[in-house]
Amino acid sequence: MAAPQSRTGRDLIVLGLESSCDETAAAVVRLCDGRAEVLSSVVASQIERHAPYGGVVPEIAARAHVELMDGVMAQAMSQAGIEFDGLDGVAATAGPGLIGGVMVGLLSGKAIAVARGIPLVAVNHLEGHALSPRLEEAVAFPYLLLLVSGGHCQLLAVEGLGHVRRLGSTIDDAVGEAFDKTAKVLGLGYPGGPAVEAMARTGDARRFDLPKPLLHDPLEARWLAFSFAGLKTAVLRTADGLKGPDGVIAPVDMADLCASFQAVVAEVLVEKTRRAMVGFAHWESPRFVVAGGVAANQLIRARLQELCVREGWSYHAPPLKYCGDNAAMIALAGAERLAAGISDDLDAVARPRWPLDEIAAARAPSHVAGRKGAKA
Ligand code: KG4
Ligand code: ZN
Repeated sequence: MAAPQSRTGRDLIVLGLESSCDETAAAVVRLCDGRAEVLSSVVASQIERHAPYGGVVPEIAARAHVELMDGVMAQAMSQAGIEFDGLDGVAATAGPGLIGGVMVGLLSGKAIAVARGIPLVAVNHLEGHALSPRLEEAVAFPYLLLLVSGGHCQLLAVEGLGHVRRLGSTIDDAVGEAFDKTAKVLGLGYPGGPAVEAMARTGDARRFDLPKPLLHDPLEARWLAFSFAGLKTAVLRTADGLKGPDGVIAPVDMADLCASFQAVVAEVLVEKTRRAMVGFAHWESPRFVVAGGVAANQLIRARLQELCVREGWSYHAPPLKYCGDNAAMIALAGAERLAAGISDDLDAVARPRWPLDEIAAARAPSHVAGRKGAKA
């Protein structure tokens, strides 16, 4: 489909739709001279529907997206104060993610594109996260990105729009998954990240000596790789050992375990990021970005910020509301693509797996069909 002729030639207004996991979201973003302005951002969380199962149930998620998407979209449009004919394009997450949900958002986007005669952008959800700091701050390319979420844990060199090199990623669980599983083991509910962080606040991070996965692995191929499955098992074993005769863990022990777990995760993320930074010493003004749901964690943010100060890098992170899944980042990715003259045909497919760096992923797939873990 042809790229749009925007109203002023430089000013683009795009509706974004997100439905790849358990948030149904819609947002309207204006991109003007490369600067983003979020006109509205509505996120309907499905947490309550999935909480009884301790994790996201794909079928429940897909049905909920069908139920919620129209209302969320209408709310985003009315909060932005614009009509559909005021849009220059519509952007929808086309993957990676839970396929039933992705199809709901993508089909909604296609319907709007057809009905209004505007271009469609099929957005990679990871590109949304990668660009998310640019919603509030004009962070220029290139930058080093640590993408940490429920489905991903990757270090990427973001060299430009659509030009992303994967430097390292997890070989098993994503980091958010490790938070969620730790919370599940301790009976802290779902989603686990905020619960573990809250519990860790009063805990002693030095009490338990948990393994630091792949920190001292001799294999060069694993220099920048992550692994969280072993840490998860260690948390499980430690938790078992802390149970009293009644099977209950004392709150103080739970707090110490959460704090120890979180500290190990932060240390691993910082060390891997430091290693990646070495490869970009030649960048004139080196910029580091942390994004994704786990980037909401205050300890992780603080440790990464300290690293940047030590290494002389500038530090950027989206505000908390744009760390987790949201549609503003999808609208921005769509607007940036439209501004670059890129849009998609109406036969764009929904993709459960869709790595940002397709070349690296094809050479060394960290995840193959049927394996659990990160979606890329
Ligand atoms: O980016 P996101 O909303 O969805 C994915 O694309 O995966 O990330 C969700 C993940 C969940 O695993 C959640 O537990 C984690 O982010 N998370 C956190 C925190 N807030 C959310 N992890 C650690 N600390 C937090 N404060
Ligand atoms: Zn996400």
